[in-house]
Amino acid sequence: PATATEEPGGRVLLAGVPLADIADAHGTPVYVLDEAEIRDRCRTYRAAFPEAGADVHYAAKAFLCRGLVRLVEEEGLGLDVCSAGELELAVTAGFPPERILLHGNAKSPADLDTALRLGVGRIVIDSPAEIARIAAAVGPHGHQRVMLRVTPGIAAGGHAKIRTGTDGQKFGLSLRDGHAQHAVARVLGRPQLELTGLHCHIGSQITDAKPYLTALRRLVGLMARIRDVHGVVLPELDLGGGHGIAYRPGDPVLDPTALARRLRTALGEGCAAAGLPVPRLLVEPGRAVVGPAGVALYRVLAVKTTAGRSFAAVDGGMGDNPRPALYGARYAPRLIGRRSTAPVVRTTVAGRHCEAGDLLAEDVGLPADLRPGDLLAVPVAGAYHLSMASPYNLVGRPPVVAVRDGAARLLVRRETLEDLRARDVGL
Ligand code: LLP
Repeated sequence: PATATEEPGGRVLLAGVPLADIADAHGTPVYVLDEAEIRDRCRTYRAAFPEAGADVHYAAKAFLCRGLVRLVEEEGLGLDVCSAGELELAVTAGFPPERILLHGNAKSPADLDTALRLGVGRIVIDSPAEIARIAAAVGPHGHQRVMLRVTPGIAAGGHAKIRTGTDGQKFGLSLRDGHAQHAVARVLGRPQLELTGLHCHIGSQITDAKPYLTALRRLVGLMARIRDVHGVVLPELDLGGGHGIAYRPGDPVLDPTALARRLRTALGEGCAAAGLPVPRLLVEPGRAVVGPAGVALYRVLAVKTTAGRSFAAVDGGMGDNPRPALYGARYAPRLIGRRSTAPVVRTTVAGRHCEAGDLLAEDVGLPADLRPGDLLAVPVAGAYHLSMASPYNLVGRPPVVAVRDGAARLLVRRETLEDLRARDVGL
């Protein structure tokens, strides 16, 4: 992480707090969030997209807890949620509902009821049937702002499982064969639904601006057709999230400031050519806000070499970070807490779960004298680790600790065996 510092003895500090002290105080595995880093990233986004209101919506699916809700709120961002659970948590933690967008390709009755009851700012429609459902739930005299999720037909994203811009995947309505256009007509036919704009989210961990520019042009094209056919000018355009971050030193990143500049230019040109006023631009970064601010700490439990391969097995794994198993994600773990002068050897950091595929980092460089009791830190662990964590093998999920100005605060406590047992009501 950017604000980590290392002392000559090998102690690594984050925001002035020794990581080994956090491991001692809270046990391992433990996730540490650098509050200043998150605030910095929020501010970078706010500065890059400086329109009035909350045009940058943090995608809560990357990681959500009450402490983070407060922080994102204080930094003036909006929120993107995709369930009643995320929505309730945010609103009960004090987030203004009008600054929240609700997503989802399969919104449950509870999702929609909660959204309407709490007064969510916008609901992003993902399928034609939803239009009638939302209209009915709103009632003939009600009013709800909605957007329509469009699939622009673009392949982009760090892995096949997180590419959402292509035709034929489950999200949104395709521009092809008039699906999106047809849905627009149906939304416009419902007086209680106010269509504020079009939305797309083309994928995740994208490190190139080009697919966003292509998506933007295609959506502006649809906006022009909507104006021609219905005489309606949509005031908003939401290009989703997906901005890529560096998981290892040297990995490419998508710089939000440069991206914003290119989007703004393309939007200005596209709208001028189509004779449209420039809509308000919305983005929904998740990973890029919290990913680099998080670090996961693990204790080495076992070390062995077998069939020519060196393993260090740690006390966490796919239960708290399923990304390597799901997407082949690569990380750069490092030894913290002591300095080693041993040569660096190729080591595979294995998780503790009962699967051969539970490897946190394959064939990475670590000191040859790694031993049980050592602490390993996995940087860039803030996004899509704990939000996708599971209690697999009945291993409780790790706690989350925030660090700031030399002080550590617990945000989420560890999941205990009592927590896990409490749901099991027996025969
Ligand atoms: N907006 C929408 C509608 C989304 O579906 C997502 C992510 C985002 C915004 C935020 O994307 P981000 O900026 O965080 O990339 N579990 C996967 C990522 C799945 C992303 C799902 N949707 C991973 O760990 O890579």
